Amino acid sequence: MLTLGIETSCDETAASVVENGRKVLSNTIASQIKLHQKTGGVVPEVAAREHVLKIVPVVKQAIKEAKVKIDDIDLIGVTQGPGLISSLMIGTCFASAFALVKKIPIVPVNHIDGHIYANWLYEKDYVAPPKFPIIVLTVSGGHNELILMKNHDKFELIGETLDDAAGEAFDKVARLLGLGYPGGPVISKVAEKGDPNRFNLPRAWLNNWNPPKKYNFNFSFSGLKTAVLRLTKDKSQKDTNDIAASFQEAVCEVLAIKLTEAAKKYKPKEVHLAGGVSANKRLRKMVEEKSPKGMKLRYPQNIKFCTDNGAMIATSAYFKYKKSPSQYKKWRNVIAEASFR
Ligand code: KG4
Ligand code: ZN
Repeated sequence: MLTLGIETSCDETAASVVENGRKVLSNTIASQIKLHQKTGGVVPEVAAREHVLKIVPVVKQAIKEAKVKIDDIDLIGVTQGPGLISSLMIGTCFASAFALVKKIPIVPVNHIDGHIYANWLYEKDYVAPPKFPIIVLTVSGGHNELILMKNHDKFELIGETLDDAAGEAFDKVARLLGLGYPGGPVISKVAEKGDPNRFNLPRAWLNNWNPPKKYNFNFSFSGLKTAVLRLTKDKSQKDTNDIAASFQEAVCEVLAIKLTEAAKKYKPKEVHLAGGVSANKRLRKMVEEKSPKGMKLRYPQNIKFCTDNGAMIATSAYFKYKKSPSQYKKWRNVIAEASFR
């Protein structure tokens, strides 16, 4: 079964063809990073206009790279939300029209579920699928959640951010340091030259965090951001490197400890990292070091599957469809159903 996945929730126009829900045949992404670098962040109107220009060429390219024909597509999955409304509308409109013309089922996908399903994808060689139950930390620019996944349709939210998502904090701190957009990759690069222990930046453990008796799996990064703001006056290049390294250390420590403590408490079969921030090497290393011995860890197989892409949307759509095909048989207007109305 071939699924076409479409993602336009923010600043990437992405499409992908995935075979039997897991094997990535193509993964085409038109990034708008250059466009948004001028403003240091995404301007929704500008992003939406770019999606309009890119959606058809990106889908054509994804079908071509997969070496399939447009008529071979059996199912279409599209990000329905959360995201920028004007950007989501381009993907959902396109996908609804595609499903109507091709008379195939369409599955609306939650963007965060999509990130979680990036850990089901593989490219060339077959990889055994994840085993439930799973603890997953999905963390990117727009969201920051800790989830106990008991099965494909049983997600239990055990923690989330009370203010900024970690990726958002990376982006804002990069802006404060004059490092550009997006913040995650540039901060981790600069941090390699810095001293992570020079500045003791705040870690928000929240409400007498005292494992193994008392847990609070929520997150907060706004205080950390304010602490960085105080350090940014009259700084040298060396200071910038040290601030970036100390900031990264503080974010990763809270994420890694809350994730691994959740693994100790819930005893899942696997621990997963997903979302844009899961590309961060320091975070991966800390999670490896702090995880219970023998715990199976997974990150998306390719760094491309950490940040926004169409393949993760295709795989999430496939598993939703398999669970209840009759629900998706008829052509649906996913725009009319969307929560953003
Ligand atoms: O998943 P994603 O592409 O979009 C959202 O759903 O938000 O994630 C983008 C976020 C940005 O905030 C970016 O700064 C962050 O992921 N990011 C990273 C790294 N690569 C991307 N954060 C930390 N380290 C990285 N290497
Ligand atoms: Zn995302």
